[in-house]
Amino acid sequence: MIVLDHIEKRFGDNLVLKDVSVEMPEGSVTALVGPSGGGKSTLLRCVNLLEIPTSGTVRIGEEALSFSPGGKTGWPEIQRLRRQTGMVFQNFQLFPHRTAIENVMEGLVTVLKWPAERARARAMELLEKVGMAHKADAWPATLSGGQQQRVAIARALAPSPRVLLCDEPTSALDPELAEEVVDVLGRLAREGTTMMMATHDLRLASRVADKVVFLDGGVVVESGPPAQIFSRPERERTKRFIASLNVTADYEI
Ligand SMILES: Nc1ncnc2c1ncn2[C@@H]1O[C@H](COP(=O)(O)OP(=O)(O)OP(=O)(O)O)[C@@H](O)[C@H]1O
Ligand SMILES: [Mg+2]
Repeated sequence: MIVLDHIEKRFGDNLVLKDVSVEMPEGSVTALVGPSGGGKSTLLRCVNLLEIPTSGTVRIGEEALSFSPGGKTGWPEIQRLRRQTGMVFQNFQLFPHRTAIENVMEGLVTVLKWPAERARARAMELLEKVGMAHKADAWPATLSGGQQQRVAIARALAPSPRVLLCDEPTSALDPELAEEVVDVLGRLAREGTTMMMATHDLRLASRVADKVVFLDGGVVVESGPPAQIFSRPERERTKRFIASLNVTADYEI
């Protein structure tokens, strides 16, 4: 189980996450949706401690850390929790001077100190999983955005994280390329990968997520299965947001 318990995050005077609690069972997929500035990226970054929560507890499996204002958290503890996570960014962030397979091997070799051959075999398995084995030796600049994102997903999965965090994984892509990334994430979800993703892409959320969390102004306004949140939201604020996205029957599920 992954648990975010009473998370608050403050930037100066700006309280951008207010008492956010979310539970994610192993194998589940949670989509964070909501207006720009609502706190989706900040919440994801609090899970892998790229941002340190002002207060609250982050639990990933057996590892847990609690935070309080003015408290200090040691680097080894941060690293231990962060290693339970993998992160996929909107703009891929592959290392430009490494081939696709070298990008996937990098963390295994440099952080986990795996021998190169073992890392290469694991990287190849993952490239196969995301349909990129045929481009193993390609440079990132020669790949399409969708292909780069699939390599980035393989890289994030390489150390077998307990949870894959994705921040707008399809929003830098044309619809056709987004589709191939949605397919890969859908396959990972069916195989039981635990994921939390921030997305404006309702097709992604409705195809992949078990649970949608609507975040506005740093508060969880409403959460539930995609069919409920997208088709029958209860709160006025959620209704307005969904209506503003111009949801068509395509997303009705
Ligand atoms: N490093 C930072 N320093 C100060 N304020 C920040 C920082 N990062 C985020 N914020 C603020 O926190 C709030 C939430 O931002 P966040 O990026 O989490 O929103 P979001 O829901 O991901 O938005 P979007 O849909 O545009 O990606 C915003 O008001 C933003 O300005
Ligand atoms: Mg964001």
